[in-house]
Amino acid sequence: MVPSRSLSCILALPALAFLSLSASALPHARVASSTATLKLAVRINSYGIKNVAAADRARIQTLQARGSSSVNATNAVTIYTADIGVGSPATYYTLLVDTGSSNTWIGANKAYQKTSTSHDTGGIFAYVLGEEYTDTVTFNSDLVIDNQSIGVATAFSYLTSGLDGPDGILGLGPVDLTQGTVSNAYEVPTVTDNLYAQRKISSEVLGVFFAPASSNDSSGELTFGGYNASKITGDVNYVPITSTSPANTYWGIDQSISYGDTVILDETAGIVDTGTTFILIASDAFDKYQSATGATLDESTELLTITSEQYDQLSSLYFTIGGVTYELTPNAQIWPRSLNSAIGGTTDSIYLVISSTGSSSGSGLDFTNGYCFLERFYSVYDTTNSRVGLATTEYTNATTN
Ligand SMILES: *[C@@H]1O[C@H](CO)[C@@H](O)[C@H](O)[C@H]1NC(C)=O
Ligand SMILES: *[C@@H]1O[C@H](CO)[C@@H](O)[C@H](O)[C@H]1NC(C)=O
Ligand SMILES: *[C@@H]1O[C@H](CO)[C@@H](O)[C@H](O)[C@H]1NC(C)=O
Ligand SMILES: *[C@@H]1O[C@H](CO)[C@@H](O)[C@H](O)[C@H]1NC(C)=O
Ligand SMILES: *[C@@H]1O[C@H](CO)[C@@H](O)[C@H](O)[C@H]1NC(C)=O
Repeated sequence: MVPSRSLSCILALPALAFLSLSASALPHARVASSTATLKLAVRINSYGIKNVAAADRARIQTLQARGSSSVNATNAVTIYTADIGVGSPATYYTLLVDTGSSNTWIGANKAYQKTSTSHDTGGIFAYVLGEEYTDTVTFNSDLVIDNQSIGVATAFSYLTSGLDGPDGILGLGPVDLTQGTVSNAYEVPTVTDNLYAQRKISSEVLGVFFAPASSNDSSGELTFGGYNASKITGDVNYVPITSTSPANTYWGIDQSISYGDTVILDETAGIVDTGTTFILIASDAFDKYQSATGATLDESTELLTITSEQYDQLSSLYFTIGGVTYELTPNAQIWPRSLNSAIGGTTDSIYLVISSTGSSSGSGLDFTNGYCFLERFYSVYDTTNSRVGLATTEYTNATTN
């Protein structure tokens, strides 16, 4: 078993004291280009992961069906979490960062500590058999959101499968996904909505930075109100949210994919999603990828596996999004070999992180660019302008895997 690796989370943010002060001093003026940064902790979970590929596939199938607005986040191996305070004085909860769902909820591990700011809305948050509250939420120690809706799990949570698992979810998806999730509310404003409405950030934008799990870099962060220009190389390229349903319900984009110079997926709609571990593509594209790489399907991990000779011959995958091509190098297409046992694999094997959605293209949600994509490209989720941005980082071409 790979030991659980805990990289501590640094929560200092000097600029925030200034931001909250200016926000309250000028209640009717939006603070010019203010941002707030939340540092993330990353942990390799080696407990309770039976089959990550199958869990990813179950997640995309739920998203495709739009059967439920809240789905299981399956990015359960490389867990990126943020520590969020709830109540006053705040109790801190470690929440999984999820751009594919939009409700923020707690109570999976640590019980909700109610304080004078806790207000039971009377609503039922059915997903985790919970009650809906509003409460004060604190990011870092000094960025405060008033009246944030919080689901409180009472009976069950799938997150508790591992030791020291997260306490819940920080929902960073579009607010539409909260429709129908709470019995007495049409929609539930997200933390990003409230940061903007309460003038703590000047535009409703979220920047997400992850480093490869094997890079030992613990500088993962969320930037609310913009993006951290120091984390990217080159420019952020934006594309509008796709018009194709159901991908347009999420952070959906249009993209095509080539393996070397062979197109394996014609331009189609899918999503960018921190809640998925691998990169999922429609089954017909997956079949083309498998035959082009010569990979075989490993039964225990349900991932493609290649020999080291095949690895040496691997071509890049090219993701074309809004006319810009993002190169996923051969090293970026493999799971970090140092973490093979965390996915139930064997030490000497080479596993590919491209997996199948389980359905053919044309579903309206034909791919998920999950964590294995997002650790190579910075992503920007822009609610104000209904667009998604991507940029290269120092890890785009890294060979850490
Ligand atoms: C608090 O949030 C709830 C749910 O989002 C909303 O209905 C209510 O108007 C808010 N109250 C205040 C005082 O902002
Ligand atoms: C979420 O996980 C739980 C527990 O593993 C499982 O029972 C449930 O079916 C999953 N839901 C979806 C939509 O995959
Ligand atoms: C990460 O840390 C581990 C343990 O300290 C070390 O074995 C490994 O080489 C490091 N990886 C990188 C890419 O620096
Ligand atoms: C932005 O990224 C740089 C480079 O990694 C880092 O030093 C800095 O602390 C980040 N900015 C904030 C506000 O966290
Ligand atoms: C990655 O490497 C390719 C060539 O292999 C180069 O064209 C590209 O600019 C590099 N990208 C970054 C972000 O360094």
